[in-house]
Amino acid sequence: MKKVVVISILAVFSFFVVSAAYAGGKCPQPRKTKAAPASAEKMDKTDKADAAKGKAIYEKTAKPMACKMCHGDKGDGAGKLGAALKPKPRDFTCADTMKDISAGQMFHVIKNGSKGTGMVAHGKSLKDDQIWDVVKYIRSTWVK
Ligand code: HEC
Repeated sequence: MKKVVVISILAVFSFFVVSAAYAGGKCPQPRKTKAAPASAEKMDKTDKADAAKGKAIYEKTAKPMACKMCHGDKGDGAGKLGAALKPKPRDFTCADTMKDISAGQMFHVIKNGSKGTGMVAHGKSLKDDQIWDVVKYIRSTWVK
C-alpha cells in the first residue's frame, strides 16, 4: 500500500517538473497572430496611459478572465490556463519576438482578439483608455 502512495506522489511530482519545463517555452516564440492594419500598428497612446491601472486589469479585473491566467504573473506566457492552449499565449519577456510587436499592434489585438487563437476580443469589456493602460503596463514591465 505504502509503495503505491510513494509511486503516485512521484508520478504527480514528475508531471509538474515536466510541465514546468515546457512552460519555459521557446524564444523566439511561434506566433499565429496577424499584423494589425498599418494605421493601427503605428498608433501609440501609452504616453498618457497609467501603468498602475493597467496592472490591476492584467492581474484582476479583465473579463472574461485576468490576462495573467494565460500570459502569466511574470508576463512569460506561462499562466495556468495558457498551458493547454495552442498556440501558446504570447511571452512578453521574449525580446526576439516582442521587438516586432508595437504598442499599436498590442492595442489592436487586445481590442479585437486574434482569430484562431485563445486570445479573445476585449473591446466590449475594456474602454480604449483601459487598453492603453494595460499595454503600457506590459511594455514598461516586461518588454525590453
Ligand atoms: C485564454 C487565454 C488568454 C487570455 C485570458 C488573454 N490572452 Fe492574450 N493571447 C493569448 C493567445 C493564445 C495569444 C496568441 C499567441 C500567438 O499569436 O501565437 C495571445 C496574444 C496576445 C498578444 C500578442 C499580439 C501579437 O501581435 O502577437 C497580446 C498583446 C495579448 N495577448 C495581450 C493580452 C491582454 C492584455 C490580456 C488581458 C486583457 C490577454 N491577452 C488575455 C491568450 C490569452
